[in-house]
Amino acid sequence: MKVLIVGSGYVGLTTGSALAYLGHEVTLLDKNEEKIMRLRDGEVPIYERGLSEVLDESKQNIQFISSWNDFDSNVDIVIIAVGTPNKGNGDVDLSYVETVAKSIGEKLDEKSNPIIVNKSTVPIGSARRVKSIIEDELKKRNILKEIDVASNPEFLREGEALFDTFYPDRIVIGTESERAKNSLLNLYQPILEQTFTPPRAVKRPEGFPLPSVITTSPTSAELIKYAANSFLAMKISFINEFAGLAELVGADITEVAKGIGLDKRIGSRFLNAGIGWGGSCFGKDTAAILHTASQYNYEMPLVEATVKTNYKQRELVIRKLQSELKVLRGATIGILGLAFKPNTDDLRDAPSLDIIRGLIELGANVKVFDPVAMENCKKQYPDINVIYTESVEELFEGCDGIVLVTEWEEFLHLPYQNLAERMKKKLIVDGRNVLDKELLKKSGIIYRGIGRG
Ligand code: UDX
Repeated sequence: MKVLIVGSGYVGLTTGSALAYLGHEVTLLDKNEEKIMRLRDGEVPIYERGLSEVLDESKQNIQFISSWNDFDSNVDIVIIAVGTPNKGNGDVDLSYVETVAKSIGEKLDEKSNPIIVNKSTVPIGSARRVKSIIEDELKKRNILKEIDVASNPEFLREGEALFDTFYPDRIVIGTESERAKNSLLNLYQPILEQTFTPPRAVKRPEGFPLPSVITTSPTSAELIKYAANSFLAMKISFINEFAGLAELVGADITEVAKGIGLDKRIGSRFLNAGIGWGGSCFGKDTAAILHTASQYNYEMPLVEATVKTNYKQRELVIRKLQSELKVLRGATIGILGLAFKPNTDDLRDAPSLDIIRGLIELGANVKVFDPVAMENCKKQYPDINVIYTESVEELFEGCDGIVLVTEWEEFLHLPYQNLAERMKKKLIVDGRNVLDKELLKKSGIIYRGIGRG
């Protein structure tokens, strides 16, 4: 099929490269000319596992454009994958989506009638909004036709976005139009039936069952996305709430999580207690759904508590340091990891930033180390006054306490005993509960996890 994808961020670029790999004819449009030039030159502007390999393998099926003037209206599907940032009050800024809808309306003619698909995470009713903007634009040129729209949310994890695209648990198609539904089923057929040869860089997991497909209304599809992210965020906050109690009663939350996770109704994933979630989705989507609820004068106390508990976890780390070191003014604290999760350089809503700001406010000196996210941090937060270090050895040197914030693989088995020799006080706060607490204690390190007795 001929597909235009608008927006070459994480979602647009991974979806585009996967569809091209599957044999569709993909055009990726992004108004950022520089990015398009780089993509044309074979450069991949984001870090995603397998992305450069998959793009390279499918380059004959994908082209990059930066202007609507180069848009060939004779396409089967237009996928909108532009940003939907938060306005600050939880409300979603739909202006990019609306601008795209207007451009589509300006470019379509009597003959062209592609299916319009919303992949961006958008508030309830956005599919209808996009439809009416396009139809109104067409009316201005006396073209009267009905546009078929669909909501097709993504559930991609950063870093694993291609894996999640090729091997999803489910595909959700929300539309009132039979034509749109059939088009999308056609588009995703190789994924739904797993008939493609897996890319070398993104292997199919053994025993992978065929993904389910849910066809529903646009509104239900839009709500599915918010409910999924709110639920995952709630699961993490739930275990974090119990972690607090585990600490008081002397239980170990990692054992508790194991004990409940084996119940198939609960499941073991997303039960790692720690300093909580960050990233571009959970915070934005929980705020957006609370905003939507408020427009209906409807309360969602579970989602509210999910958010509150999450941000409390970041303060908890500082309380732990205070309880060991008493006064933080003048103390030196080392932050091990800046990215909101491993295998990304993304700092959006990263717990590290709140923790660093809190420590600086209390007068502590802060040193940081992250294998990939430090350059981003320097660029995006030049106001944050921290010492960037070149190695873990340099980070530990002279510290009164270390906080493990991001569980990078390389941090899991560091020679902590030797590194601690460099510290003024051998204190490690394990914000992700990933270190061997007994081993550390044996080496004379004061170990503080989250909810570990
Ligand atoms: C998430 C969803 O997983 C994805 O489906 C959605 O489309 C976008 O949001 P992502 O933000 O990439 O994806 O990260 P994810 O791997 O889900 O982790 C989110 C955050 O939760 C991270 O900060 C992670 O450290 C934290 N987390 C995750 C926990 O604190 N405990 C857990 O058990 C799992």
